[in-house]
Amino acid sequence: MKRSLSAIKPTGKLTLGNYIGALKNFPKFQDEYENFIFVADLHALTLPIEPQTLYENTRDLVALYLACGLDPNKTTIFLQSDVSEHSELNAIIQNYLYMGELSRMTQFKDKSKKLNQNAIGLGLFAYPVLMAADIILYNADVVPVGEDQKQHVELCRDLVHRFNTRYNKEVFKMPTPIIPKTGARIMSLTDPSVKMSKSGEKGDIYLLEDLKSVEKKIMRATTDLGSDIKYDKENKPGISNLLTIYASLKDISIEEAENIFSNCHRYGDFKKEVAKVVTDELSKIQTKYKEIIDANIIDKVLKDGAKKAKECANKVLKDAQRTIGLYGK
Ligand code: TYM
Repeated sequence: MKRSLSAIKPTGKLTLGNYIGALKNFPKFQDEYENFIFVADLHALTLPIEPQTLYENTRDLVALYLACGLDPNKTTIFLQSDVSEHSELNAIIQNYLYMGELSRMTQFKDKSKKLNQNAIGLGLFAYPVLMAADIILYNADVVPVGEDQKQHVELCRDLVHRFNTRYNKEVFKMPTPIIPKTGARIMSLTDPSVKMSKSGEKGDIYLLEDLKSVEKKIMRATTDLGSDIKYDKENKPGISNLLTIYASLKDISIEEAENIFSNCHRYGDFKKEVAKVVTDELSKIQTKYKEIIDANIIDKVLKDGAKKAKECANKVLKDAQRTIGLYGK
């Protein structure tokens, strides 16, 4: 059976962007693939975070994984920090990735720009190394992610090629990123030129946000000149973003979404429909989230998941260790 693997880092409140670009797609893999989904809690340390915030975000993220349809009987759900093999393999493969290629990563450039230049953590720079370790430890065939993570998966592919060629053996499996056709990059509602993110801006929608507030944000979303509901990223970035959200949640194409609104010439009416689709989806997720928190099952899910993940990761780690001349006992 082929394997699928992905993760989200618990740095902030999960957004509608995370949901549409990644989380919504995770359960699709659990019937036909061996599915590994984890919380990238070590990655969350790459920018300063309060211990309590990290702890709560981690619990919320696991609950949201379950609320969005991941079934612990079909998907191995675990915390990155519970499987020490991630850090061990990271220590090895960091020697096979180059500082030049890491410094070209768009996400590093964007994030480091906003920091004091004398206090950029090494972990932020080396972030894609750990992410590559995450992927290859599970022999992942596919990695479903949003567009902003594609470059990191491609770097992982370079590493796999470099490592396997160096040792003339298929030690690591070559992963393929799976990027959704629609919704791989959801933009901010107040500024459709920037990505929706967990950083707490007014234009971001959170999965656990109050539904009235969500509705208000959508009704106030930045729109463009004209009154037609047409997808045109350059001239109508606001409407295009709302159309993308609508189409993704309805599981239809952008063209089908445009057809539905071909006779609608009032942005307000269109926004009402978008708000309805979004709040309906979030309402379902929030109800399930509450049930999961009340059922107190998270610790058990994580314990079982870590055990299964460790078994798999340990084999790959040992093979890599022996290949390069470490004892790998
Ligand atoms: P993270 O936590 O930043 O984002 C989680 C997932 O959400 C997607 N995403 C978006 N998709 C569409 N529109 C947006 N505005 C948007 N914002 C975020 C991301 O592309 C991602 O798929 N490095 C990863 C976590 C990670 C990982 C891994 C993923 C660690 N190890 C191994 C896959 C495999 C990250 O920080 O994602």
